[in-house]
Amino acid sequence: MAEPRGLMVIGGGKMGEALVAGLIRTGWASPGAIVVVEHDQARRDELSGRHDALVVVGTIPAATQSIPLDGAVIAVKPADVEAVCRELARAGVRRVLSIAAGVTIASIESWLDPAAAVAVVRAMPNTPALVGAGAAAISPGSKAAPDDVSWARSVLEAVGSVVELPESALDAVTGLSGSGPAYVFLMAEALIDAGVLVGLARPVARELALGTLLGSARLLAETGEEPSALRAAVTSPGGTTAAGLRALEAAGVRNAMLEAVAAATERSRQLGRAGAG
Ligand SMILES: NC(=O)c1ccc[n+]([C@@H]2O[C@H](COP(=O)([O-])OP(=O)(O)OC[C@H]3O[C@@H](n4cnc5c(N)ncnc54)[C@H](OP(=O)(O)O)[C@@H]3O)[C@@H](O)[C@H]2O)c1
Repeated sequence: MAEPRGLMVIGGGKMGEALVAGLIRTGWASPGAIVVVEHDQARRDELSGRHDALVVVGTIPAATQSIPLDGAVIAVKPADVEAVCRELARAGVRRVLSIAAGVTIASIESWLDPAAAVAVVRAMPNTPALVGAGAAAISPGSKAAPDDVSWARSVLEAVGSVVELPESALDAVTGLSGSGPAYVFLMAEALIDAGVLVGLARPVARELALGTLLGSARLLAETGEEPSALRAAVTSPGGTTAAGLRALEAAGVRNAMLEAVAAATERSRQLGRAGAG
């Protein structure tokens, strides 16, 4: 287990709490070495109730108070990031990981104290992080050294897998893995409805559809096989799967997926240009 390290997480919402829970679960840090800064009193009470010994406060403390802090994670909504950066600059934080969607490294660096050379790493996580199975990309800022990137990677690896890419790739990451869970949820909904269509009770259809999605994803991940090879392996000549796949291809499912990822990527670019996050 790694040496216990200190971390400040600003924003104790869904993503902030998921990160904290993952960091505690994996032994990245003990609860007492994590400071969560959360505006909302009711939310602070919830966090303290759920995570023994976690330090939960309402405002950003000075970086050197009580716990030696390795760095800070910005997990507030994009519109709140500027204010948080300005507070972090006042607190003297030297290293920042931002998971705020659409907020550029250049903006974050300009809102932090430019003279203080704060290392910034920007990330695009996704919601399966809430159950420790996220897929995230990280991009180093202009002042981030390799050990800052390793630190950011280790934080996000507490809740899933992490790839490192230049910031210019983050719109594509948003289109694929950021928005991707919604595509899979849509497929799950459709599979359940399809099970009902062919005569299964809805709870049974749900159990079978979810088991199929989860099992197929695990098979892909654990065998390391290409999806096409696994698909061929379950498609016998003239069989039921071939008939089902023909219907999917005729309905344009493959092309729909290409269009979905391309549309979401383009939308992410548009939002970035508009500065809307
Ligand atoms: N959820 C996702 O799937 C996902 C995926 C990728 C990236 N992200 C990014 O992750 C970030 C967090 O998302 P989320 O879904 O966890 O949001 P959330 O549930 O709204 O959590 C943000 C929390 O931060 C608090 N907050 C705001 N400003 C603060 C400040 N200055 N100091 C302390 N606390 C402050 C908010 O309190 P108030 O509500 O009282 O302001 C809220 O409780 C967002 O930037 C989002 O773009 C999320």
